[in-house]
Amino acid sequence: MGHRGKVALVTGASSGIGQAIACRLGREGAKVAIADVAEADETLQRMRQAGAQGFAAPCDISDPRQVGALVAEVGERLGPPQILVHSAVVQFVRPFEELSLEDWRRTQAVNQESMFHLLKAVLPAMKAGRWGRIIAIASSTFFVGAPAMTHYVTSKGALIGLVHGLAAEVGPYGITINAVAPGLTRTKKAEVDLPPELFRQIMALQCIKRNGTPEDQAAVVSFLASEEAGFITGQTILADGGQGRT
Ligand SMILES: NC(=O)c1ccc[n+]([C@@H]2O[C@H](COP(=O)([O-])OP(=O)(O)OC[C@H]3O[C@@H](n4cnc5c(N)ncnc54)[C@H](O)[C@@H]3O)[C@@H](O)[C@H]2O)c1
Repeated sequence: MGHRGKVALVTGASSGIGQAIACRLGREGAKVAIADVAEADETLQRMRQAGAQGFAAPCDISDPRQVGALVAEVGERLGPPQILVHSAVVQFVRPFEELSLEDWRRTQAVNQESMFHLLKAVLPAMKAGRWGRIIAIASSTFFVGAPAMTHYVTSKGALIGLVHGLAAEVGPYGITINAVAPGLTRTKKAEVDLPPELFRQIMALQCIKRNGTPEDQAAVVSFLASEEAGFITGQTILADGGQGRT
């Protein structure tokens, strides 16, 4: 699953699943650019320890100008992105009746509309190079729902729609586009934000009797980003320990 010589752009890689993805792709030889609103020192340090090359650029991916500038900078410093992984997210719990239009729009702008800006910026060079791997991090909540998270679940459904819709257009250029839908994942942030009981409850519903880790998701992404996954496109891979299939 080597990514030697490839250039990867990973959004939301300052923490959690995005961080694990950036570190894994970097460890496997990719040069990795990180796009995040938060500083990415921890990720860069972990990447360096693994011998990986890359840099982080502060970027609000909901702003098309910032995305355009970022992709241009990646092109100058590393080469045009050949692997795009979109992991950045806005997520909060709020019942639909209490949601403001601003809550709704911000969630869609960061979680799914940003993919429009990212794709517009990276696709021309991927098409010219006749190779690309695009991976959107969705969520198992699209399939099983989540209380008071309609705004979030909707944004993940839009990402899945985009992936399933665009595959036919980019496929002739050697570009695959897929979604990974993680189940509940034990990130540092999730451990602080969520009650321990939730991890036990979800585990009880899974076939695999342990909590998911960021590295579980990074492994799926690494495969989809590889040469070997070139015949898989327009798919959503559920990586949720078999939740609900017990
Ligand atoms: N953790 C889970 O249990 C879980 C489950 C299912 C799906 N997911 C999905 O996995 C992905 C990663 O989740 P996570 O738990 O690691 O989240 P996280 O909160 O740890 O990381 C999200 C990152 O996105 C960045 N970000 C937020 N707004 C941004 C913006 N406008 N521009 C650029 N960066 C921005 C944040 O700074 C943060 O570093 C998300 O797409 C999430 O929906 C997570």
